[in-house]
Amino acid sequence: MDTSKLMFRDGLMKDERILITGGGTGLGREMAEGFLKLGAEVHICGRRGGVCEETAEELMSKHGGKVVPYACDIRVPDAISDMNDRIWSAHGPLTGLMNNAAGNFISRTEDLSIRGFDAIANIVFRGSFYMTHDIGKRWIEQKLKGSVCSILTTWVWNGGPFVVPSAMSKAAINTMTQSLAVEWGRYGLRFNAIAPGPFPTKGAWARLSPDSGSSSMERGVANPMGRVGEMHELVNLAVLLMGPGCEYINGQTIAIDGGMYNASGGNFSALSAWTDEQWAAARAAIEGANAEDKAKRTV
Ligand code: HXC
Ligand code: NAP
Repeated sequence: MDTSKLMFRDGLMKDERILITGGGTGLGREMAEGFLKLGAEVHICGRRGGVCEETAEELMSKHGGKVVPYACDIRVPDAISDMNDRIWSAHGPLTGLMNNAAGNFISRTEDLSIRGFDAIANIVFRGSFYMTHDIGKRWIEQKLKGSVCSILTTWVWNGGPFVVPSAMSKAAINTMTQSLAVEWGRYGLRFNAIAPGPFPTKGAWARLSPDSGSSSMERGVANPMGRVGEMHELVNLAVLLMGPGCEYINGQTIAIDGGMYNASGGNFSALSAWTDEQWAAARAAIEGANAEDKAKRTV
C-alpha cells in the first residue's frame, strides 16, 4: 500500500491496541500496516505462524512500532483464549478487534461435501463469533470500551451463488454486528463491518478466480468505476471505523465496492455458464493453492 494515501494524521491511533485475525496476508496485512503507520500497537494471527512472523518483522522494519504475531486457529476456542490471555498479560487489554480471517472457494453447491461446507463455516461463522465472544466478555468484565469491525462482503444483502457457505456465514456475522451493536452498546462496545468489492489478494484470487481472472474476478471491467479497489481506500475506511473520532457509528455495514453491488449484484452469478470441465479445472487449481498454504501451517 502507498501509505502516503492514508487520509488521517500521524499518531491518530496511538492509544489503540488492535488484533487483526488473518493479519499476516492480504487485506489484514494492509490494515495492519495502516494502523501501525498511524501509531497503533497491532497484533496479528493466523495458522501459518511463520507468515505472521515475517509480516510483523517486515512492517516493523518499515515503520517501527509494535506488531506482535501469533500462530492461532480461530476455529479452536481454547487457542483463542490462550492468545488473548497472552495479549492481556504481556501487553494490556485490546481496544479493538478486526474480524478479517476467512476461508472461501468457488464451487457449485451440489459439488460441496459437508466437510467443504464446514471448512468455510467453521472459520467465518464460528471463528468470528468465538473471537468476538472471548474479547467482548473481557471488555464487559473489565468495564472497558472496545470496537469490533468484521470484514464481510456485499453478498450479505443479496446472496452469493457459487460461494454459498461463505455468503451464509458472512450474513450471520452481519446479523451478529447488528445484534451486538444494540445488546452491548450499553457497555461502550460498538460493532461495525465493511463489505469490500474486489480488492486483489493472492489468497482470494487463488480461490475465487483460479482461471487467473479470465472471467470471474476480472470484474473491475464490470465495475461502474471500471477498476478494482485500491488498498489505501479500504484501509482509510477501516481507520475511520477503528480509530477515534467517529464513535457514534454503531451497527453499520459499509460497502466499498465502486458501486458494483448496486450495478450488478456483485456476486458470482455469471458462473452459471461454466461447463463441467471449467469446474474441474477450477477445483484442481484451488486445491493446489490450498495444499501450498496448508504446508506452511504451524497450528
Ligand atoms: C469443492 C473443496 C474445494 C473446491 C476444498 N474443498 N476446495 N470442495 N471445491 N474448490 C473441500 C475439500 O475437498 C474438503 O472436503 C474440504 O473442502 C476441506 O478441505 P481442507 O483443505 O481440508 O480444508 P481446510 O484445511 O480446513 O482449509 C480451509 C479452506 C482453505 C477454506 C478449504 O481454502 C483455506 O484455508 N483458506 C483460507 C484462505 C482463504 O480462503 N482466503 C480467501 C478469502 S476470500 P472433503 O470432503 O473432500 O474432505 C473471501 C471472499 C472474497 O472470503 C470476496 C471477493 C468479492
Ligand atoms: P487472504 O489473504 O487469504 O486472508 C485470509 C486470512 O485468514 C489468511 O491470513 C489466513 O491465514 C487467515 N485464516 C484463515 N483461516 C484461519 C483460521 N482458522 N485461523 C486463523 N486465521 C485464519 O484473503 P483476503 O482477500 O485478504 O481476505 C481477507 C478478508 O477479506 C476475508 O474476510 C475475506 O472474506 C474478505 N474479503 C476479501 C475481498 C477481496 O476482494 N480480497 C472481498 C470481500 C471480502 P492462515 O491461512 O495462515 O490461517
